[in-house]
Amino acid sequence: MHPETLVVSAARPARQVDAPVNEPVHFTSTFVGWEPDSAGKRRLYGRMSNPTWDGPEQLLAALEGVQDPVAQPALLFSSGMAAITAALHLAPNGGRVVVPQHAYQGGISLLDSLQQAGRLAVDRVDITDTAAVTAAVSGTGAGSVSGAGSSAEPASILWLESPTNPMLEVADLAALTEAAHSVGALVVVDNTFATPLVQRPLEVGADVVVHSVTKYLAGHSDVVMGAAVTADAGLHRRLHTHRTLHGAIAGPMEAFLALRGMRTLALRLERAQANAAELARRLEAARLEGALPLAAVTYPGLPGHPQHELAATQMHGGFGAVLTIEVAGEDETASAAAADAVVQQVRHWLPGTSLGGVESLIERRRRFEGEPATVPAGLLRLSVGIEHVDDLWDDLASGLRG
Ligand SMILES: Cc1ncc(COP(=O)(O)O)c(C=O)c1O
Repeated sequence: MHPETLVVSAARPARQVDAPVNEPVHFTSTFVGWEPDSAGKRRLYGRMSNPTWDGPEQLLAALEGVQDPVAQPALLFSSGMAAITAALHLAPNGGRVVVPQHAYQGGISLLDSLQQAGRLAVDRVDITDTAAVTAAVSGTGAGSVSGAGSSAEPASILWLESPTNPMLEVADLAALTEAAHSVGALVVVDNTFATPLVQRPLEVGADVVVHSVTKYLAGHSDVVMGAAVTADAGLHRRLHTHRTLHGAIAGPMEAFLALRGMRTLALRLERAQANAAELARRLEAARLEGALPLAAVTYPGLPGHPQHELAATQMHGGFGAVLTIEVAGEDETASAAAADAVVQQVRHWLPGTSLGGVESLIERRRRFEGEPATVPAGLLRLSVGIEHVDDLWDDLASGLRG
């Protein structure tokens, strides 16, 4: 079945007369039962399962290419960060995690705190440099931009994001997965930016995919939720146990809203990606003509993006709906001030963090202290929504003209 059909038709109640078309929300903390749960088949208690989770969990696993989504459903978590925490828990104490130098800032901060606590060692890498990442994962001591570095041990986990947040660098998922597996490292991919409609890391061998469901999957900026997906029965058991014991579960209402959002994922993404591609094209043309004060326009779909060809082979049907612009300025301070002025000036674009909703959002990432200094101070991240592209363009262009 095509994903466009799957998102609409999967995960509905059995087809019988007077059955509801949508699975109702099950508000219950416990389930009636007499027998013990030794086989793990009973629902038992609301921290272990909820029928409202089943639909979005099976649909997401199917979209990510899991062969048996009923046996290995995705695991919903209370947030993307909770899913990331569960996936990092797969590394043994003292294990080493290799991560992109630019990646979702919350994940980077979590890894910093785990490193400070002595729980994990962390190496940051330029994710576009496949040879350097391979060296860092194998533990030769080379390849890392900063971090633990000279370990003789292979890494426990290679953490990938592609495109990265917010620099939109593209990692070679297939080559890096193969390299990590050859030294026994697990590969976890945060697939939030691309969504499974555009990129399916499990199909090139990744072990676990994590999502901030908050973003494109739910799609309406009204839910905070995460998910982890794996086709491996052993990893699935460990992630499920982590969720049950650490308790970061999704509420039933949020699970219902997530599934409702996923019904329109294909349509929303199609429009948002088309808008993003068109805006990137217009912005880049304006930059080259000197018509707008832009130092850079970055979008994996632009032919000038350094990994455009790789992106074209591993992303399907589009290049995502996030792009960045760097507002020109004489120095970092001037560029940051000019970017802040654009955020103040625009009217359709909502100033706000997050991405993946129907509405377009704009934000200057370096306003967050934890964002690395290698992210330009005047960089604005644009999460392109599903409005009319001309309204978005007029608003942004006039905001940039000041
Ligand atoms: C790529 C990426 N992964 C994970 C997260 C964390 O997700 P959540 O905010 O749902 O905890 C975010 C949030 O912005 C994100 O952008």
